[in-house]
Amino acid sequence: MRNKLTKAIFPVAGLGTRFLPATKSVPKEIMTLVDRPLVQYAIDEARAAGIKEFIFVTSRGKGALEDYFDHAPQLEQELRKKGKDDLLEILKSTNMDSGEIAYTRQNKALGLGHAVWCARRLIGNEPFAVILPDDVICGDKPCLAQMVEAYNETGGNVVAAMEVPADKASAYGVLDIKEDRGKIVSTKGMVEKPAFGEAPSNLAVIGRYILTPTVLKMLNQKKTGAGGEIQLTDAIDAARDKGEEVYGVRFEGQRFDCGSKAGFLQATVAFALEREELRDELWGYISGLVNTAKAAE
Ligand code: G1P
Repeated sequence: MRNKLTKAIFPVAGLGTRFLPATKSVPKEIMTLVDRPLVQYAIDEARAAGIKEFIFVTSRGKGALEDYFDHAPQLEQELRKKGKDDLLEILKSTNMDSGEIAYTRQNKALGLGHAVWCARRLIGNEPFAVILPDDVICGDKPCLAQMVEAYNETGGNVVAAMEVPADKASAYGVLDIKEDRGKIVSTKGMVEKPAFGEAPSNLAVIGRYILTPTVLKMLNQKKTGAGGEIQLTDAIDAARDKGEEVYGVRFEGQRFDCGSKAGFLQATVAFALEREELRDELWGYISGLVNTAKAAE
């Protein structure tokens, strides 16, 4: 029987400089898509995949994140008094129980691999998931749950994978495919941010991982890679060199790069259009814009 996946790491230590000045005082992960912070989407996805322990790798200035997950007794009492049960329910669904959530700090910005390594003692000798909240994925079945299904079949290390245009590959970790079985691919390598024209395929890694503790051991070596940073991609590939399997899962769903402003705005529009109470008004506005632009052509 495979070791059950119950822990997930959320690297949230980044400065979010692309969203300055907002991120001067608001952690990027608290910025909202419609009315829910970015990080809430990641938490919900993890829960849907059976995750029970949520480990946040934070940094200075991320206090608002801890407050967000805490219970808010005064606010709850106020809503109860006013009979606002629907809001009370929404609020309660964001509360995390003590012991369910842990925070550890990354005290130097040395890269994603280093951020994951900072959580090593909280992981121990178990498989674990990593979720990058910047990558928001919507679909019928949450992405991590799709990966858990694949992992139950394959074991080893499993990463989310998506086809990207050749000229975009150098922004990602890219898989070197051994065998393409359709939904699942096995790999013989993985390259972080390949130089233009040197990507081994157009199958890019998206920010969802199910990893073995061997990856943490590889991270112990603190080797620097692309951009002079300690890369998670390199540690996963090193685990493969040691004889472990690494699989890519072509997930179903739409991915938004909420690390960029354009991606964040697209996700905002997509999620807003899914809300019944917003759809008509927003759609009317967008159609109006399109019609005006067409008339001006
Ligand atoms: C990180 C990973 C990269 C992955 C990407 C997905 O890069 O290092 O392998 O393809 O996330 O979003 P970043 O976007 O942090 O540069």
